[in-house]
Amino acid sequence: MNILILGSGGREHALAWAVMQNPKCDKLIVAPGNAGIAAIAECATFNINDGASVVSFVEENAIDFVIIGPEAPLAAGVADDLRAAGILTFGPSKAAAQLEASKGFTKEICDASGAPTAGYARFDDAKAAKTYIRAQGAPIVVKADGLAAGKGVIVAMDEATALEAIDDMFGGAFGGAGAEVVIEEFMEGEEASWFILCDGENVLPIGTAQDHKRVGDGDTGLNTGGMGAYSPAPVMTESVIAKAMDEIVKPTVAEMAKRGMPYQGVLYAGFMIKDGQPRLVEYNCRFGDPECQVLMMRLGAQALDLMLATAEGTLDQAKVNWAEDHAMTVVMAAKGYPGAYEKGSVIKGFDALPEDSKNMVFHAGTAEKDGQIIATGGRVLNVTARGDSLQEARDRAYAMIEKIDWPEGFNRSDIGWRALK
Ligand code: AMP
Ligand code: GLY
Repeated sequence: MNILILGSGGREHALAWAVMQNPKCDKLIVAPGNAGIAAIAECATFNINDGASVVSFVEENAIDFVIIGPEAPLAAGVADDLRAAGILTFGPSKAAAQLEASKGFTKEICDASGAPTAGYARFDDAKAAKTYIRAQGAPIVVKADGLAAGKGVIVAMDEATALEAIDDMFGGAFGGAGAEVVIEEFMEGEEASWFILCDGENVLPIGTAQDHKRVGDGDTGLNTGGMGAYSPAPVMTESVIAKAMDEIVKPTVAEMAKRGMPYQGVLYAGFMIKDGQPRLVEYNCRFGDPECQVLMMRLGAQALDLMLATAEGTLDQAKVNWAEDHAMTVVMAAKGYPGAYEKGSVIKGFDALPEDSKNMVFHAGTAEKDGQIIATGGRVLNVTARGDSLQEARDRAYAMIEKIDWPEGFNRSDIGWRALK
């Protein structure tokens, strides 16, 4: 079959890498892609957030299956346009993607389904929001309701920071995303993510992971899109998984179906776990980036079969073939990220790297220029490895990093520290 993947990050490179290994894939096109993706698939350029453009590209290129990587096309309703045109699609509808696109909507679903989550209140007015913050006290969490590229959450350890966040949000710092805010109880515990395929009715978990959101070693410094991840996450014990499934995931999927907005795609659930009890932090309606890289490393070619079963509504007959393995990805970013950084520096050393089912460098912000790979983004490479233990995966990933010659880049040196300690 002919397959189209939308997106350009390390997540989409990992998806492309897994899909290409499956004999069902005759031809793969990725839009817009990056330099790493261009080495294994055809890349195309058109507006991936515009349903009509995507549908016409799909029809012109005889595409049989579309996998939507990032949240923006999902929130724009691209999956709806594709399904309306009769095209098999992996990714939720615009209505179902509200689980990521509106924090207030997710809270409503939690209330209706009884899923444990932080206590909260919603505001569309700064004065009332501030009165609530003063009454609750710190620590407290202030969230812009809409999509804010991962920057719309302020975990305020003191009241002044929370009040300032309200001024920023209602002052337009997050555009339309901040026109409404959700103020939440601060939850303590350890965070982990779980990725669950849903075909509208049936669910199939495809792995747990833990991301590292802070830029610096020891989880210090500014928040980023994620500096590294590993799978599985030991904090997601069998008992936590069972609770998360019965108390949170299944009730959510049932509530979405009941509202006439069945969830079809991957549900990315973020939990806070304390004393063996998971509570929902957030949902995303797509794979995590960089969590997808470790999941694809572990799943390999079967990822395509599982995504097809999701789109076809046959997840009840699908199953995951697990190896007792571990994977880790370490993000290499441009110096300065998540603040200002230079673009255009040359990255060398790729020829010295192993590339097999245990060692892969997935590209995020890269392009090819005059035969060289140059950095074009903040997060640039995802150095990813698999092993029989997390330690083995870690050693392989960091051995690859040693060989990459990129003086303008940096990486965290302690990915996996919680699980390895
Ligand atoms: P979100 O975009 O909702 O995942 O929030 C980003 C990050 O903020 C999460 O990964 C948590 O680390 C933190 N966070 C969000 N909500 C809470 C909460 N209620 N209590 C503590 N930390 C939170
Ligand atoms: N790594 C966090 C995210 O994809 O949202």
